[in-house]
Amino acid sequence: MKLLAPSILSADFYRLGEQIEAVIKGGADLLHFDVMDGHFVPNITFGPVVLESIKKHCNIPLDAHLMIENVDKYIPEFIKAGADMVSIHIENNYHIHRSIELIKSLGAKAGVVINPGTPLSLLEEVLHYVDFVLLMSVNPGFGGQKFIPRSLERLRRLKEMVNAINPKVLIEVDGGIKEENILEVARAGADILVVGSGIFAHQDVQAQTRKLKNLLIS
Ligand code: DX5
Ligand code: ZN
Repeated sequence: MKLLAPSILSADFYRLGEQIEAVIKGGADLLHFDVMDGHFVPNITFGPVVLESIKKHCNIPLDAHLMIENVDKYIPEFIKAGADMVSIHIENNYHIHRSIELIKSLGAKAGVVINPGTPLSLLEEVLHYVDFVLLMSVNPGFGGQKFIPRSLERLRRLKEMVNAINPKVLIEVDGGIKEENILEVARAGADILVVGSGIFAHQDVQAQTRKLKNLLIS
């Protein structure tokens, strides 16, 4: 089963609650939160208070993608605020085993994220103890970027690595996924598909979510 994870980064923040209700009605499986600190990536978004407010009204799992420094300091806060899944980058976390274990010890699913320019071989060890891998198909920092074509080949190779090392690990793909390529990405091995502008740039957010969801079911 393929899961659809709308990224609220591209939502209209003035109408956030309404738009979240629309994606849930449209069949969203998870809600993806792009947390940015202006250090690891050149953009700033939101922190745990935003998750906390949404959690109270939301019955689907919250997926926090942390693009920040000092993850160990903030992981407990995001989980306390309601994150059911937390992912951290391989590039800036030197003690990745410790941080992943911290996420799991607090009861959330733990994921490792890899940027487009980072060799997949770096994941070999961490695949033994994560619940999911988030493969970036754009450089992190902004919504609305173009899908990097080589990501499909990386995804196929990652799928092979996962099958060989730890087949329970789910693969999430994030960046530039739209109506035009969502099926191709799903077929190349993605279990969870993150979509930001491919949903929220549309007038009818609910209908667009339903459309993508139906493509994944087909
Ligand atoms: C980029 C984020 C993505 C992004 C996806 O740093 O991790 O989640 O918002 O947005 P689209 O689908 O517009 O590329
Ligand atoms: Zn993301």
